[in-house]
Amino acid sequence: MSAPAPEPAPCALRTARLVDAERIFALIHLHRDRLVPRSLGNIVENIDRFVVAEVDGEMVGCATYGIFPEIGEPLHTAVEIQSVAVRAPWRRKGVGRALVLEIVRRVRAFEPAAALVLTFSPEFFGRLGFREVPKDKVMYKLYTGCINCTKYANPFTCPEKAMVLELNRRD
Ligand SMILES: CC(C)(COP(=O)(O)OP(=O)(O)OC[C@H]1O[C@@H](n2cnc3c(N)ncnc32)[C@H](O)[C@@H]1OP(=O)(O)O)[C@@H](O)C(=O)NCCC(=O)NCCS
Repeated sequence: MSAPAPEPAPCALRTARLVDAERIFALIHLHRDRLVPRSLGNIVENIDRFVVAEVDGEMVGCATYGIFPEIGEPLHTAVEIQSVAVRAPWRRKGVGRALVLEIVRRVRAFEPAAALVLTFSPEFFGRLGFREVPKDKVMYKLYTGCINCTKYANPFTCPEKAMVLELNRRD
């Protein structure tokens, strides 16, 4: 008996273009209860870090990453997966997974020790191999991001979970 046909890709992935910036802004803004807000200017400045997912030419999702400005700890640097969003009608079809795995594939080139996410969707990231860590293990994130949060005064009482995917370095 022949092997089953491979699953069709749920979407096409590509690096964002400047023309996508307003759609990315709208998608992030739509999920402002779960995602850190971004200005249009911030998206434009970081457009080359965004990946978008398309189905039949329509943008159905986006994701990006940030790099923590650590100096002197090259073995412990982490990248943060950010702004992961999939339009509601296209959820649970593998689009979110494809976006996150593509971001992880891209950031591996920089050889970070880990990919970090702070998320209200721990089940989703758990399916992708991320594991929850205590927030005091990611103080770099708290000092560079959470400290400026306008939603919660204290990162330790914020309901977002900190999750990490260890990335193998090539050494
Ligand atoms: C979270 C989100 C990106 C997931 O996108 P998606 O395209 O539906 O995810 P996928 O279909 O690729 O799911 C991958 C796996 O996670 C599981 N999963 C996805 N969402 C889940 C959820 N809310 N609860 C539990 N499991 C979930 C899927 O069942 C699938 O499991 P599998 O390994 O058995 O196949 C999407 O729901 C979303 O945009 N939510 C709003 C914004 C948000 O919360 N973003 C995360 C911010 S950090």
